[in-house]
Amino acid sequence: MSQISIFDTTLRDGEQSPGVNLNQLEKLEIAKQLERFGVDIMEAGFPASSKGDFEAVRAIARSVKNTSVTGLARAKKKDIDIAWDALKDADEPRLHIFLATSPIHMTHKLKKTPEEVIQTAVEMVSYARTKFPQVEWSAEDATRSDKDFLVKIIEKVIDAGATVINLPDTVGYTTPEEYGELFRYITNRVPNINKVSLSAHCHDDLGMAVANSLAAIENGATQVEGTINGIGERAGNAALEEFAVALNIRQDKYPYQTNLTLKEIKRTSDLVSKFTGMAVPANKAVVGRNAFAHESGIHQDGVLKNASTYEIITPGLVGIKSNNLVLGKHSGRHAFKDKIEHLGYQLPEEKVTEAFQAFKLLTDRKKEVTDDDLFTILVDIQTNL
Ligand code: KIV
Ligand code: ZN
Repeated sequence: MSQISIFDTTLRDGEQSPGVNLNQLEKLEIAKQLERFGVDIMEAGFPASSKGDFEAVRAIARSVKNTSVTGLARAKKKDIDIAWDALKDADEPRLHIFLATSPIHMTHKLKKTPEEVIQTAVEMVSYARTKFPQVEWSAEDATRSDKDFLVKIIEKVIDAGATVINLPDTVGYTTPEEYGELFRYITNRVPNINKVSLSAHCHDDLGMAVANSLAAIENGATQVEGTINGIGERAGNAALEEFAVALNIRQDKYPYQTNLTLKEIKRTSDLVSKFTGMAVPANKAVVGRNAFAHESGIHQDGVLKNASTYEIITPGLVGIKSNNLVLGKHSGRHAFKDKIEHLGYQLPEEKVTEAFQAFKLLTDRKKEVTDDDLFTILVDIQTNL
């Protein structure tokens, strides 16, 4: 089965989420958990961006041993030198350099001609390789770049020593079909592409980051970049927990494996949410509060008979103890009876019916009925025994 490397950028692109600012200890604690989760590479930060980030990246590079640690740099010698100082004590120091290749970015942001962009990319990758054994080069805004320009620059950057080529969908613009086609195009046309690994990095502006990442691996990507809980710049990055679970559940369609330990997902998600202050939406796939909750009577009845009726993921797979049958106005008698038995009540059938009717009346006034509400109903019913 083909192996996919997981490149986590929670501590860099994830930290670029508006309003998020992690201190060194928080970054270190998340890094340790990412190591337990089994990511292959973690991007610990952008060392040239601040003294605090430099120190955090250095601390992570020194203490994380089972995961390769990398840091981001612009295509500037100063950034590369600072990144080297932060990363040189890592077991396998890596650098991630980016430079934009789309006409929009080259004209308006870089104010460079395409030839100047090629020259800068080649010079900076060669310079980085005088220090780092592994250098990833990202063609920023690749999905809005001219494909033949990408072929040209990628060939030269590989000759200059890049070991990983990343094709980011920087603004979350592409669709799965187009992104897959981009990977096919590059794989078929760049003559020296077999010397490097090819990486996907997707943003979620149109809600397609995970789907795009899956399309990339079907078309030649061997590394996928993303963040925990999908946090990141604007609408965020591909959510790694969703990508990993999709591979696990749909082996029929995606026969790829990773080194991730899926049962660490919940703990990792909780930690990232706590330190970033970014709450996980209740309906978020895989880790949201409602991802394993069932409210309707028909679903609850099905799940009580056999969980696979309405659950494609077992909660235990991702480190969640159990599913949750929420009692609300759509709930049925089967789930209600199951719940009161769990609360320790064994009632004759007619009393269950009576309690169920009282519960149903309450659901017209309350969205979710709590255990305390149930106790009140059950005490009333018992007093009438
Ligand atoms: O989205 C992006 O283009 C990036 C680059 C720095 C790789 O995050
Ligand atoms: Zn990004």
